[in-house]
Amino acid sequence: MTSRSDFNDRMLSLGLARVAEQAAIATVDLIGRGDEKAADQAAVNAMREQLNLLDISGVVVIGEGERDEAPMLYIGEEVGSGNGPGVDIALDPLEGTTLTAKDMPNALTVIAMGPRGSMLHAPDVYMEKLAIGPGFPAGLVTLDMPVTTRISALATEKGCAPRDITVCVLERPRHEDMIAEIRSTGAAIRLITDGDVAGVMHCAEPSQTGIDMYMGIGGAPEGVLAAAALKCMGGQIQGRLLFRNDDEKGRAAKAGITDLDRIYSRDDMVTEDVIFAATGVTSGSLLSGIKREIGFNTTETLLMRSKTGSVRRMTYRNPTQG
Ligand code: FBP
Repeated sequence: MTSRSDFNDRMLSLGLARVAEQAAIATVDLIGRGDEKAADQAAVNAMREQLNLLDISGVVVIGEGERDEAPMLYIGEEVGSGNGPGVDIALDPLEGTTLTAKDMPNALTVIAMGPRGSMLHAPDVYMEKLAIGPGFPAGLVTLDMPVTTRISALATEKGCAPRDITVCVLERPRHEDMIAEIRSTGAAIRLITDGDVAGVMHCAEPSQTGIDMYMGIGGAPEGVLAAAALKCMGGQIQGRLLFRNDDEKGRAAKAGITDLDRIYSRDDMVTEDVIFAATGVTSGSLLSGIKREIGFNTTETLLMRSKTGSVRRMTYRNPTQG
């Protein structure tokens, strides 16, 4: 097992940014073309190729799916040159495949890296999530609280009225009751059609994004990626895995999860310091999307280290060939 000191997060972080950037650039001709699979495949190929250039002995712990479902970047796949520290990697080469295919806001490429054993091996099931930004007392809002209590607690702490709070929610029929409860408090809701990693990250920069809180059910792998982001940016997230059938419970067992009702805090999902990179594919309130100009593409990447709390925004100009 890698010791923390082997994980040179400072040196590896620029390499991680390159991985996120190249995955985004690979999708450029597929933005707004209505082909989700092609966009995802392009991002997967590029992310894998770039990861394999890094001097790491990496294992994908959050990836494209189980080995029999995903030929590349599957859970357990070994990546990197093999000449470096053993690291765990959580990734989503294209978070928001539909957003990309429809050229809608907030599609991102996302990757986090930490020492071995630093991230929850979340199975590909749903997770109930609740997140707020930095600067609030631990446990101010919890998944066990009724929805209305979460909003009044945050409003009281912020010294505002519930109507001044904006909650980000994935627009799904399963959220109808929760949306009605949020509306009953007077709070505003920003509905998103996809992309809850970005949804959670929005809470960490409320003055820029206008989002105070995220709640609702989305993918569990995305929950771990969002926890990694908030570990770097600050903020709280809680997640509880949800199982619809025995097959999903079996996935949890395979991932070593025995307590199926456990509520995971941010630091339960990401137990050690990690690095995180996300590049904008389509523009949103967090990141600019890829800009195409004659002769080059330009991307914007958030590159963060939880050890230092450093958050870099990097602009990268990449010449196009031909
Ligand atoms: P993809 O990028 O794989 O299309 O996932 C997008 C997403 O919206 C996630 O952000 C979210 O966690 C999940 O799908 C929600 O799942 P569902 O569409 O089944 O409600």
